[in-house]
Amino acid sequence: MSDKPARYASWTSGKLALPELQELKRRSEKIVMVTAYDAPSARLADAAGVDLILVGDSSGMVVHGRESTVPVTLEEILFMTQWVTRGAKRPIVVADMPFGSYETSNEQAIGNAVRLVKEGGADAVKLERGGTSVARAKAIVDAGIPVMGHVGLTPQTATVLGGFKAQGRTAGRAQELIRDALELQAAGCFAIVLEAVPSTVARAATKALAVPTIGIGAGAATDGQVLVWHDMLGYSEGHAPRFVKRYADIGDAIVDALGRYAEDVRSGAFPEEQHTYAMPAEELKAFERR
Ligand code: KIV
Repeated sequence: MSDKPARYASWTSGKLALPELQELKRRSEKIVMVTAYDAPSARLADAAGVDLILVGDSSGMVVHGRESTVPVTLEEILFMTQWVTRGAKRPIVVADMPFGSYETSNEQAIGNAVRLVKEGGADAVKLERGGTSVARAKAIVDAGIPVMGHVGLTPQTATVLGGFKAQGRTAGRAQELIRDALELQAAGCFAIVLEAVPSTVARAATKALAVPTIGIGAGAATDGQVLVWHDMLGYSEGHAPRFVKRYADIGDAIVDALGRYAEDVRSGAFPEEQHTYAMPAEELKAFERR
């Protein structure tokens, strides 16, 4: 049996228990979340000790090269969730509910959340916005599935928000945002993502909420942080948003490696003897005779 990592309150040899997040907030210990979209990345995130993995619909942009998250389908998230849950053992895996998978009715929301848990292996789901999403969140929680809320910049409805820009920058909007977060908490959400909001607003929301807040572009006062895999590792196209801190230059490392591979193939330096298979001498002779 493996030892309990010091940062967790309860003994845990396998999957991190959901109440640990609340406990981390209580002890003012930061919660670490990152997105991942496949098994090897999930395994690495697990090895690095992250607490939560989000199978985000950001995949639509950073993996599938789309302009927005809107076209992402439930089937895509379902596939990726299956891959991620094969790679990640300890972190809590949260599957994003893509646009169109929960807006129509509580029944639609429950049905699709059940698929993400039952077929995808997710531990929880995430949906965006307050308003009608509050009733959807409550319906999913009542069906026995943990839900994470998401307010502030909600990329699925970025057009309504006037684009990919910071939210809650007026007193009125800041108040609405905190009200949405409180309603999601009352609906039973176990945590709320705050995306692209002023740090002062995120601080007030974090204080007002009993459940943990996970910030992205929301300053340092939230209970935890989330970053998109490709952005933080330098593996995305174009400029990452200003709130991203880049921890590696994987894209450059890949271009360099592929460049050296191409050079070796063209010069004949690869493959070498060690990369090839031999035949027993007598078989080779027989083969040559034929
Ligand atoms: O899809 C995603 O990656 C997200 C995070 C930015 C929170 O929703």
